[in-house]
Amino acid sequence: MQRGVADCFKQQHKLNDDDMSDLEKRAENFTQPQEYKDQGLYPFFRVIESGQDAEVQMAGRKVSMFGSNSYLGLTSHPKVKEAAIAAIKKYGTGTAGSRFLNGTLDIHVELEHRLARFVNKEAALVFSTGFQSNLGAVPTVVGRNDTAIIDEQSHASIIDATRLSFGRILKYRHNDMESLEKVLKNLDENKNGSLKLIVTDGLFSMEGDVAHVDKIAQLAKKYNTSVMIDDAHGIGVLGDNGKGTVNHFGLDGEVEMIVGTFSKSLASIGGFIAGSKGLINYLQHNARSLIFSASLPPASAASVIAALDIIESKNGLVEKLWENTHHAKKRFTELGMDIGDSETPIIPIYIRDNTKAFIISKILLEKGVFINPVITPAVRPEDSLLRFALMATHSIPQIDEAIDKIYAAGKEIGIY
Ligand SMILES: Cc1ncc(COP(=O)(O)O)c(C=O)c1O
Repeated sequence: MQRGVADCFKQQHKLNDDDMSDLEKRAENFTQPQEYKDQGLYPFFRVIESGQDAEVQMAGRKVSMFGSNSYLGLTSHPKVKEAAIAAIKKYGTGTAGSRFLNGTLDIHVELEHRLARFVNKEAALVFSTGFQSNLGAVPTVVGRNDTAIIDEQSHASIIDATRLSFGRILKYRHNDMESLEKVLKNLDENKNGSLKLIVTDGLFSMEGDVAHVDKIAQLAKKYNTSVMIDDAHGIGVLGDNGKGTVNHFGLDGEVEMIVGTFSKSLASIGGFIAGSKGLINYLQHNARSLIFSASLPPASAASVIAALDIIESKNGLVEKLWENTHHAKKRFTELGMDIGDSETPIIPIYIRDNTKAFIISKILLEKGVFINPVITPAVRPEDSLLRFALMATHSIPQIDEAIDKIYAAGKEIGIY
């Protein structure tokens, strides 16, 4: 095995184990990434030298991108880029403060109105990332005598948000409505103003399945429970012209809190929570990840407004994304590939072996296709997969070529 970077560093600086602090020793003992690097299989932090498009440049050559969350391909849309540049010219590059104090710009407020209208809610509140939106929402709403009931496969930001809450946290089996009902049934009636909140992703980011928001809303009503849907991946993809998972089920009025992010279809970074005016006022004055963190940079706010302009102009991007999705799904099915139950532009190609998932993504990169392996602990070892993510800006020949290459690589390592 080759020597790792840490070994070289130790030798150069003439360090031995006794010179290291406990913290440094602990870091030193974390060797798994280096083991994959030594085998030439390490698939993370891969460097891209161009914009996040359907085709990117890596190590000076063109690579087809099937690992992006830019579902509508708007990060390099000329109007989005122009809006970001204009915002920098007008406002500069940062806000140097929290929304609560000196960091609220007129474009933050404009963006909040636009987002509220987009998801059919009274009001919205913009955070600096989607992750922070969840960190702001859950601990603020779920206090000491309250209960959050979450899908066991919720995104890490939901899990971490529950860890910040002083309330009770319960989990139900992934997208399993019987399991959810069992949890709800065992809970006491809301006493002394305590509340219960069901939290789940709308569209699950790794396996592409959609939360049963209709059944969740029914159960919520039956057991006097509130609902929060984190629609990071559903906004721009599902619902009427990309209005999201809740809209897809026609339940805009039933779900109290919708969380979204700008880092997927909305071409930037940042996040939001939408709900009633009262709820947004409550979050504005209590959500610590909002109050104690600087606000969204002006270029990001302007990019999202421009992205919304494009989506609302109904220029066919959402339809093209779905056309690509149906085409890809049909091809995978014809080839007999194991793609689970995905109903969306996120298609899991099950490899069911961590090392093979790494090997196949390496082979594919050599053949000019970028695709992310998803392994333990993100999924169980027997569920490891390649996450094939479609964009509206992929062409059908590009999709076909990628699928042929994935199939050929799978054959090469004995999966097909
Ligand atoms: C469901 C979900 N929620 C929240 C986030 C965090 O979003 P952001 O990248 O804006 O921090 C992600 C990002 O992957 C996500 O998938």
